[in-house]
Amino acid sequence: MSYPYQIKSYDEYKEVYKKSIQDPEGFWGDIAKNFAWRKKWDKVLEWNFSEPNVKWFQGGKLNITENCLDRHLEKLGDKPAIIWEPNNPEDHSRTITYKQLYNKVCQFANVLKNNGVKKGDRVCIYMGMIPELAIAVLACARIGAIHSVIFGGFSAQSIADRLQDAKAEFIVTCDGAFRGAKDIPLKSVIDDALIACPFVKKVIVYTRTRTPISMIKGRDVWWEDEILKVESQGDQTCDAEEMDAEDMLFILYTSGSTGKPKGVVHTCAGYMIYTTYTFVNVFQYKPGEIHFCTADIGWITGHSYIVYGPLSAGATSLMFEGIPTWPDAGRFWDIVDKFRVNILYTAPTAIRSLMGFGLDPLKGKNLSSLRVLGTVGEPINEEAWHWYDEHIGKKKCPIVDTWWQTETGGTMISNLAGITPAKPSFATLPMPGVEPIFVDENGKEIEGNSVGGNLCIKQPWPSIIRTTYGDHERCRTNYFATYPNLYFTGDGALRDENGFYRITGRVDDVLNVSGHRIGTAEVENAINMHSGVVESAVVGYPHDIKGQGIYAYVIYTGHHSDDDLARKDISATVARIIGPIARPDKIQFVKGLPKTRSGKIMRRILRKIAEGELKNLGDTTTLLDPGVVEEIKGGKL
Ligand code: WT7
Repeated sequence: MSYPYQIKSYDEYKEVYKKSIQDPEGFWGDIAKNFAWRKKWDKVLEWNFSEPNVKWFQGGKLNITENCLDRHLEKLGDKPAIIWEPNNPEDHSRTITYKQLYNKVCQFANVLKNNGVKKGDRVCIYMGMIPELAIAVLACARIGAIHSVIFGGFSAQSIADRLQDAKAEFIVTCDGAFRGAKDIPLKSVIDDALIACPFVKKVIVYTRTRTPISMIKGRDVWWEDEILKVESQGDQTCDAEEMDAEDMLFILYTSGSTGKPKGVVHTCAGYMIYTTYTFVNVFQYKPGEIHFCTADIGWITGHSYIVYGPLSAGATSLMFEGIPTWPDAGRFWDIVDKFRVNILYTAPTAIRSLMGFGLDPLKGKNLSSLRVLGTVGEPINEEAWHWYDEHIGKKKCPIVDTWWQTETGGTMISNLAGITPAKPSFATLPMPGVEPIFVDENGKEIEGNSVGGNLCIKQPWPSIIRTTYGDHERCRTNYFATYPNLYFTGDGALRDENGFYRITGRVDDVLNVSGHRIGTAEVENAINMHSGVVESAVVGYPHDIKGQGIYAYVIYTGHHSDDDLARKDISATVARIIGPIARPDKIQFVKGLPKTRSGKIMRRILRKIAEGELKNLGDTTTLLDPGVVEEIKGGKL
């Protein structure tokens, strides 16, 4: 593969950026020529942000897996597409070449077909980080089924909510997953979820942990048995379904400030082009290099920069089953040395957690293969940035700080490794085609440099969210209605004197815990489901490792035991309803919550108290009962 669209200098970036904004259709039309199409598009872009209605490459026909697999077979067929490192360092790693991956995807696509999956059907994938997860994703794309991957840490209730919302009739899962010292009983969680989802027709189960599981006749089948059936059928190839550019590729659920998680929809062509373009440019990928993105495929980062972006670029993508701290805090560095990794892309929370172990885990690690480092998911503090730079990159590797979202599909603001300048804790400059703008609360544009504001984007880029599954109005009100004719990100940001962007964090009621997005309303609902809880209010507070921690103020009447046990019960309830990632870090029992006369909780005050800032709480005169603030301030955890 060669990448004629790879930007090679800062000057070129400036030039390309200018063109991309002046003539987005010409710009993206040129880039799209580097992909495999069954039929060329008629029109590059049609859009309005009022409905919203965004269509890229209308009339074009393609299949993303022909771009990720077929087109590489001739030249890269024997090159590794996926390298997989298991949880246990003593087990064998696996290398899957492009040819092998192509065969496996075709085989499993046939398994899906044999089990009744058709174009447009929704397939939920709930698996650990094993190559079969990527294979299942690609097999869906091959036959035009819409995948919806659910992170292995979500509870049965969360899965049931998503299955119902997506009306997914098919599930691909594993018996269990290995993560560090733990075995996660995935199939058993699915069984619990399915009590509320009788419409699910088939569950395909891959064997990973060989933990005993129930297999219901007529509904549950083993992956391995189904592969044998395909093998006995003879021809194992599977023609790719011809997809419209704007056909749905996948749904991925993510939290917002209200209600249940929404299903963000991405479509085939625009998503493919943007993830490939940003992968090649941000990391400055060179053919033959090994790219290690440590995210889970259950999140957008894994979709875009483990699976689709790298594979479409013909890259080698390293997938890791385990966690950074098991069997010890040197695991990432062992993997880097074992496979001579060139690009390491991880989250600030992982860096901060590893930083906490000191330099011992780095003893004897070489790390000289590293060329580029990346971060994603949350703001990176300067201390972590410098530790990453000095101790991992040895001051020789550019660090790209990539700001983006589930809804944006790919990186929106980031430096290009070694090409455009880096600045600690700044995502720096927009990608070509991306036009950020700041507005104040009233939607008035804040122009110039050395300013801050609510971050919006002015015109569509190819992988912008198209809709929220089953509820287009929700997409409009969430992202396109706050400020007319702009996409609102939900983030606040600063622009420095040189026009470099620094993302400061969410300005809505969304938390970012260890780089994972969690809605305060969702956590409150889960807490309120605990028997004895009358009401609760959840806010974020600065947490040394997680970035943000979850602080819950709870009115509780169920005291039959001590407070600590009650806290543990509430935490268990949240883990049961949402998943362990949403467990509150701190629970404070209170008698009342600070509310305005109209009944709105004043979170600003609760946030300040959670941050330990007991003075300067601002104006409390509008409170119904200012006395509650004193009670909360004096309260214990
Ligand atoms: C939110 C999106 C992007 C994939 C992983 C998270 C925050 C993301 C950065 C960054 C500061 C960042 C934002 C954004 N965020 N990257 N480089 N610097 N903040 O995807 O779950 O959709 O969350 O993560 O607040 O809105 P997500």
